[in-house]
Amino acid sequence: LARGVREPDLKGRHVVVSAGGTREPLDPVRFLGNRSSGKQGYALARTAAARGARVTLIAANSTLPDPAGVDVVPVGTATHLREAVLKAAADADAVVMAAAVADFRPVTYAAGKIKKKDDQEPEPIALVRNPDILAEISTDRVRPGQVIVGFAAETDDVLANGRAKLKRKGCDLLVVNEVGERKTFGSEENEAVVLGTDGSETAVPYGPKEALAETVWDLVAGRLG
Ligand code: CTP
Ligand code: CA
Repeated sequence: LARGVREPDLKGRHVVVSAGGTREPLDPVRFLGNRSSGKQGYALARTAAARGARVTLIAANSTLPDPAGVDVVPVGTATHLREAVLKAAADADAVVMAAAVADFRPVTYAAGKIKKKDDQEPEPIALVRNPDILAEISTDRVRPGQVIVGFAAETDDVLANGRAKLKRKGCDLLVVNEVGERKTFGSEENEAVVLGTDGSETAVPYGPKEALAETVWDLVAGRLG
């Protein structure tokens, strides 16, 4: 094989990738959201397709162009994302949760725009927890042998928090990256450690999001056998 051309080691596999960040609406014009750009998830989808996989990309509010040859399912809220992931995961060999899922959503949605009142301070926004999609698909495994990968951005005690999160979620691999200066949302590059339930730690040096994506698929392909 020519340099840079990979063996299609994911041929015949169906992989699901979630990307972007969910938005939880308050009213028709406002939402609670996050800064996820979707770039890492899109890089995962592109590289999996290049390695021969059938790819379902569940894209939460991303403005990136659809990668060629990938099934893109656009979603808005964590509830939508959950439905799309559960549906696509039913026959998937691997699921990679790169999306930033809102932990909470407003308890109520105002059908009309929320207006301020001259003589009143605003009401606090009451929130309720969203379901944990990664924990759900990891606990109730629908397909034996399915490889499930989570992502975690941490600011402190990155590895210790990552190990605890891997255990808590029940997934097979957890990609942990430290957020801070230079390692910010929206950048083209990333640096991470991929933690495995087998105790493995795979360090991925600071570099393009494609390189991290390739390492994730190497580890997934290794587990799929
Ligand atoms: N995730 C999910 N459903 C949620 C929240 C998170 O599936 N409701 C997934 C994310 O897609 C990611 C992983 O869980 O793959 C870790 O997300 P993270 O926000 O780091 O984990 P949390 O359990 O929400 O912990 P924290 O309190 O640190 O936010
Ligand atoms: Ca969270």
